[in-house]
Amino acid sequence: MPLQFADRLNNVETSAIRELFKLLGKPGIISFAGGFPDSAMFDVDGIREAANAALTEEPGGALQYGATEGYNPLREQLAAFMTAKGCTGVASDNLIVTTGSQQALDLIGKTLISPGDKVIVEGPTFLATIQCFRLYGAQLISAPIDGNGVKTDELEQLIAEHKPKFVYLIPTFGNPSGAMLSAERRKKVLEMAVRHQTLIVEDDPYGDLYFGQTAEDRPPPSLLAMSPLVPGSRELLAHCGSMSKVLSPGLRVGWMIGPAELLAKATMCKQFSDAHTSTFAQATAAQYLKAGRMPATLARVRKVYAERCQLMCDALRMELGDAIEFVQPQGGLFVWARLTGAGGKVADGAELARRAIEKGVAFVPGAPFYCANPDTAALRLSFATVGTDKIIEGVGRLAQAV
Ligand SMILES: Cc1ncc(COP(=O)(O)O)c(C=O)c1O
Repeated sequence: MPLQFADRLNNVETSAIRELFKLLGKPGIISFAGGFPDSAMFDVDGIREAANAALTEEPGGALQYGATEGYNPLREQLAAFMTAKGCTGVASDNLIVTTGSQQALDLIGKTLISPGDKVIVEGPTFLATIQCFRLYGAQLISAPIDGNGVKTDELEQLIAEHKPKFVYLIPTFGNPSGAMLSAERRKKVLEMAVRHQTLIVEDDPYGDLYFGQTAEDRPPPSLLAMSPLVPGSRELLAHCGSMSKVLSPGLRVGWMIGPAELLAKATMCKQFSDAHTSTFAQATAAQYLKAGRMPATLARVRKVYAERCQLMCDALRMELGDAIEFVQPQGGLFVWARLTGAGGKVADGAELARRAIEKGVAFVPGAPFYCANPDTAALRLSFATVGTDKIIEGVGRLAQAV
């Protein structure tokens, strides 16, 4: 007898990107396709020391079942980490630890979305969020972006028209857009949250990966950090953070800060799902933060990604010229570009991805990152895991394919 799956699966397809990833095993391929941090940059010594300290100092806590909300020493460290980033008034009981920020997004979907509910996301946005919210039956609405992030005038019109359950944004170095929402637009987002009484979900796994050396070159504070400027906005804001892109995705440590009622419902759902995030991973992350290693780790990864990004952008400009256009990102892991079709060159991202694989280089075409009205000319190129010589070579191969 064929298995009868739940109706909710009818809303979701396996990603087109997955098909592309199957081709990445080809020998000699240079891949700009991943969304990963570089494993060569993991602070293995620091994590080993932290894991040892967790086992030595708190073996019971690190290896036993734990509270669903999270391991208290980690919640305290994370509250201090967020406070240091300008988020005032975040105490340990204002956050819950999640199994990666992906789980925080899933819990947001699970607790808030009923089938048919409208949710506004950026076009383009993180693919797993599109899939996750659709699994809960959301009707997704796409808000356009430009180099400064989501266009706030259009966003406000969409909120007024659709009265969404919530708005999901990646304001800082979005995946895939790499865009950084300007300070002015951040304030407008907070104001419209209050004006329309709409919950805003801020997903921020990349905000610490900025390349600027001076305060002016760095991203504006997160929506959470800016929320005191707009009275009433804090109660309408959920913020998701993650250790994945800055320390290690394998730890699966993320967190969510939000209104107490939302955290309580999310905790209840998490209890039925994975009971709690690995206590060993949480105790290790807590020891790592306590040891004060994070600032040096962040400085190191920022420097490496900044160099790789600069190199990729210079090479793209030189090798592809007017065949491609993009705004150089100021942080994160991705260059988001558009094919112009100039001089009869390829104008379709999926077509170029096929040709590029033939030439030995891979990237992800942009269309799947839209929940509606895809831009078929868009591409996402990650510079994060590719060494400098391979970046030059990979962009050279791309130029042959275009
Ligand atoms: C925008 C965004 N949000 C959330 C995640 C999930 O990250 P994690 O579950 O590892 O914290 C990712 C991972 O790629 C991402 O790009």
